[in-house]
Amino acid sequence: MIFGSTGQLGSDLIKVFKNDFSVIGVKKSQINLLDYFKIERFVLKEKPRIIINAAAYTKVEQAEIQIEQAFKINALGAYYLAKAAEKCGAIFVHFSTDYVFSGKKKFYTEADQPEPLNIYGWSKFFGEILVRSACQKYYLIRTSALFGNKKSRQKINFVEKILSAAKTSRQIKVVANLITSPTYSLDLAAKVRELLIKKPPFGIYHITNSGYCSWYEFSKMIIELKHLAVKIRPVKNKNKTIKRPRSVILINKNLKKNHFSLLPSWQDALKRYLIIN
Ligand SMILES: NC(=O)c1ccc[n+]([C@@H]2O[C@H](COP(=O)([O-])OP(=O)(O)OC[C@H]3O[C@@H](n4cnc5c(N)ncnc54)[C@H](OP(=O)(O)O)[C@@H]3O)[C@@H](O)[C@H]2O)c1
Repeated sequence: MIFGSTGQLGSDLIKVFKNDFSVIGVKKSQINLLDYFKIERFVLKEKPRIIINAAAYTKVEQAEIQIEQAFKINALGAYYLAKAAEKCGAIFVHFSTDYVFSGKKKFYTEADQPEPLNIYGWSKFFGEILVRSACQKYYLIRTSALFGNKKSRQKINFVEKILSAAKTSRQIKVVANLITSPTYSLDLAAKVRELLIKKPPFGIYHITNSGYCSWYEFSKMIIELKHLAVKIRPVKNKNKTIKRPRSVILINKNLKKNHFSLLPSWQDALKRYLIIN
């Protein structure tokens, strides 16, 4: 059972799981994450073996204003699903973010202590705490800078933002001092499927495409691969309305420890994304 089925990751999870799993996708219009009794009724009726939560409040800047909404969906909503999973004996898969870290030390393993800088990060960290307290059989997956199914969401992903800006501008300014590991949601979804088939020990898993770059380097690669005549100019992040971690690279230590292959490089993932989108 996949909640958030209309989202970027949710729709890719459905694509990947539907061949060999019997999948129930759940949209917000069917069940709101904030309606515990509806969740419980539905889950106890369908008795899924696995519940995946790909639903979230993902508007990072807006979260600084819609604080209550962000905490309700990312913390309370996650708790409700984890509680329902525990009640019906299902494995619970939940997604969190690199934004639970401050970026002070650049490389982070699953054992590092979160220290969020902004409301979105705090709301996701609270979600992690509540999920871990509500159920025993969980995979809590932290990922970063997702790009995927562009038709799935109202807001567009970073790759599409750059391609759209390239249609109207000859020069695009992109921040060069924020570092991340861009991650293709289709690759992430495939690794989640592998995790659920092989069932390593429950716990926290960092899953990102391999390597890292600044948003500036990421944009340059997008423009190069599309052979566009646009200049990308590096700038410093000067956004005063929201604090962002300067550099968070999630080390996929638990995947390695449990003998899983790591995801391909972000450059390889970007090439494949651009071919089919
Ligand atoms: N995007 C990134 O760069 C990124 C980076 C790191 C981690 N993550 C994490 O990865 C996960 C997936 O992210 P994404 O980019 O795929 O998100 P997304 O495209 O924004 O999709 C979010 C989904 O959640 C649904 N939703 C929102 N509020 C809901 C509610 N109250 N009840 C039920 N459903 C609700 C949305 O439905 P509607 O469209 O109908 O509102 C949508 O289907 C999230 O946990 C996110 O925090 C994302």
